[in-house]
This record gives sequence, structure tokens and C-alpha cells, in this order.
Amino acid sequence: MRLTDPGALLSSAHVLDSGLPVRLRLTRPSDGRYLDQFLREVSGESLEGRFGHAEPAREEARELTFYDPRQRLVIAAAALDGGSESFIGVADVTLLETGLAEIGVLVADRHQASGVGRLLSECIAHMARDRGASHVRATMPRANPPMLSLMERLGPTVKTVEREGTAAYTRLPVVRRRAA
Ligand SMILES: CC(C)(COP(=O)(O)OP(=O)(O)OC[C@H]1O[C@@H](n2cnc3c(N)ncnc32)[C@H](O)[C@@H]1OP(=O)(O)O)[C@@H](O)C(=O)NCCC(=O)NCCS
Repeated sequence: MRLTDPGALLSSAHVLDSGLPVRLRLTRPSDGRYLDQFLREVSGESLEGRFGHAEPAREEARELTFYDPRQRLVIAAAALDGGSESFIGVADVTLLETGLAEIGVLVADRHQASGVGRLLSECIAHMARDRGASHVRATMPRANPPMLSLMERLGPTVKTVEREGTAAYTRLPVVRRRAA
């Protein structure tokens, strides 16, 4: 698989099958109210799939808008409705030890299975790779076929059983840069 340039993913509007236009962008501290609204609309089951518990801890929620970009990045899928936007999904990446980055993806229940997770995971994986990651890991507290499918789309994936549940490790495609 070839990962699409995140610049292209971040600079264009994407139209979901439902016709909803969505833009991907980095989150920022002033997004607190968009994030609160988004988290309120996500079911306990989906929150558990992402965080391992049905209510994100204050710190986990805060880290979706406040982060040190040298170690962590968060992008949101923002639906555009007239002049205002609302979050329908978020994805984050944390750079771990050399070459490995942890990713997480959360999509609002009513927008799941319409390609938002694919857009977010592709963009966040590309950002991880640009920052030196060769592999990404996703931790899944319980069986999660949609997340596993997203990881398998990114590259060759192996599953392991870990303390927090199942983890999927995916090798990202190597970038071949042209000589200047
Ligand atoms: C996992 C999650 C992010 C996927 O996002 P999404 O927007 O629903 O996914 P997409 O529409 O891009 O579909 C991804 C793939 O999963 C498949 N899929 C979607 N819903 C599915 C379901 N209920 N069962 C099986 N496969 C499903 C899609 O067909 C697609 O497969 P493909 O890649 O072979 O085409 C989303 O379901 C979610 O937020 N879940 C709760 C949080 C969570 O569990 N996060 C993962 C831990 S980090």
C-alpha cells in the first residue's frame, strides 16, 4: 500500500458516501468545546474500544487538544455545516521508542462504517512515518474487526496479546525519496 501524502489529505475536503463534506486538521487547545461535544455523542461502547473504559479520564480527553507536537499529534475529522464545524472523529499518534508509534482512532457512532476511520488512520500513519516511525501499534481492549481492518490496510500486520488486550503492529511502507 502507498500512503497518501498527509499534505493532500489535510488540504482537501473529503466527501463521505453520505454526501457529508469532511476536512482533516490538527486539533488545537481552543478546540475544547468541539471535543467535549464530540465525546458526549460517542457511545460508551465506542469509548471503551478506544480508551479501555466508557468514560475518558480528564487527562485522556485533554491530551486530544493539548499536546507536545514533538511527541504526539492529534487530527480531527471536522464536518462542515455552513460556516461551522463539528468533530465526527479524532485520531492520535504518540511516538514511542525508536521506530514505533502508538495510534488511536475514534469515530462518532453515527458516522462509523463510512470511511472516516480509513481517512484518519491513513493520515495519522503517514504523519508517524514522517517523524521516523517504521511501525505503528494499536491497542484494542476487545476484538475489533474494523480497527484491525484499518491496520491491515496500512501494511503487513501482526497481532499479539498484551496486558491491555490485543495489540496490532503494522509495518509502514518505506518512503522512497527522490534525490534532489
Ligand atoms: C474502529 C473505528 C475507528 C473504525 O472507523 P470507521 O470509520 O467505522 O471505519 P471505516 O468506515 O473506515 O471502515 C474500516 C473498515 O472496517 C470495516 N468495518 C466497519 N464497520 C465494521 C463492523 N461493524 N464489523 C466489521 N467490519 C467493519 C469496513 O468495512 C472497513 O473495511 P475495509 O478496510 O476492508 O474496507 C470505529 O469503529 C470506532 O471509532 N470504534 C470505536 C473506537 C475504537 O474501537 N477504536 C479502535 C482502538 S484505537
